[in-house]
Amino acid sequence: MRVDGRQWRTIWVENEAGDVGVIDQTLLPHRFTCRVVGDAAEMAAAICDMVVRGAPLIGASAAYGMALAMRSNPADDHLDAAAAMLAAARPTAVNLRWALDRLVGQLRPLPAHLRRAAAYKHAAAIADEDVAINQAIGCHGLDLIRKVADGKAGKPVNILTHCNAGWLATVDWGTATAPIYMAHDTGLPVHVWVEETRPRNQGAALTAWELSKHGVPMSLIADNAGGHVMQHGQVDMVIVGTDRTTANGDVANKIGTYLKALAARDNGVPFYVALPSPTIDFSLHDGIADIPIEERSPREVTHIQGATESGTIVEVNLAPVGITARNYAFDVTPARLVTGLITERGITPASSEGLAALFPEQVKP
Ligand code: MRU
Repeated sequence: MRVDGRQWRTIWVENEAGDVGVIDQTLLPHRFTCRVVGDAAEMAAAICDMVVRGAPLIGASAAYGMALAMRSNPADDHLDAAAAMLAAARPTAVNLRWALDRLVGQLRPLPAHLRRAAAYKHAAAIADEDVAINQAIGCHGLDLIRKVADGKAGKPVNILTHCNAGWLATVDWGTATAPIYMAHDTGLPVHVWVEETRPRNQGAALTAWELSKHGVPMSLIADNAGGHVMQHGQVDMVIVGTDRTTANGDVANKIGTYLKALAARDNGVPFYVALPSPTIDFSLHDGIADIPIEERSPREVTHIQGATESGTIVEVNLAPVGITARNYAFDVTPARLVTGLITERGITPASSEGLAALFPEQVKP
């Protein structure tokens, strides 16, 4: 997508030596700064510290992490050690494991001297595929928005989203935002309710930044306001992303998503989840029992980052010093609360049957 007139992706090969460039998402919206990542350990740290984040981008970053590892040492033991280190960076987004399994599977049969070039090629393929997948998700989701718009006599379609499932969370386009960008670009009037998304505020910091840079009308709301705007008929549909969706359609996404699904059900608001197929974990069948939920530092709950009027980025304490806090990063929305899953192959009910019909090659006999 474009930032101040220039086209960007979230990850790229920076130079002929093979260093990897990323946008530092910890500094947005205050500073648009790029970082150069020079080895696999740095990439693992960038994933863990959320310099890069969002399930599809975590997958692409891990793939480039493997390329950096192969650049420094393509031997078998280093291949395995790098994959294990990257896999440990974050637990919930299954795209991380998916990308690493793919890279390891493609690299291991090769003689060591061919691994470096192959790793960069496969990482680039994962990045390009992500862009194509998100464009396809955008086209399917656009049909949904168009149907709602048809009944609104030119009034904007109001879409609520949580966290950042935008282009910053992917290589480009985003998942939840791809239909929104396409609707806006084709002249359909849309307005997005952007939930701030405590504790790390990906909605306020990232989604609000993205949408406003692209000129999409939006309003930032506190997380707790989502139910209120639904009750007052101001939300036509919810679209969120996911970090891992099970074979039966249970959806893990940023903490707070479940509460929005409950509010949506209570108010008759359709609740859609946009997801690329690498986010589907066909090995799991019960999201609440089986999806590992990341617990991050309590400091992200007790402290908050912002910029002063002079632009200095500061962190301040919100809570009594020394109190106990818990920081669950994701929750699981049961399939029964999901109206539909928007995938690159089309829209399906959140069910084993629906997912199996769209992805028959994933169904184990
Ligand atoms: O902790 P984050 O910022 O990596 O969490 C991101 C989300 O929860 C997104 O909604 C999800 O990864 C889907 S991104 C297309």
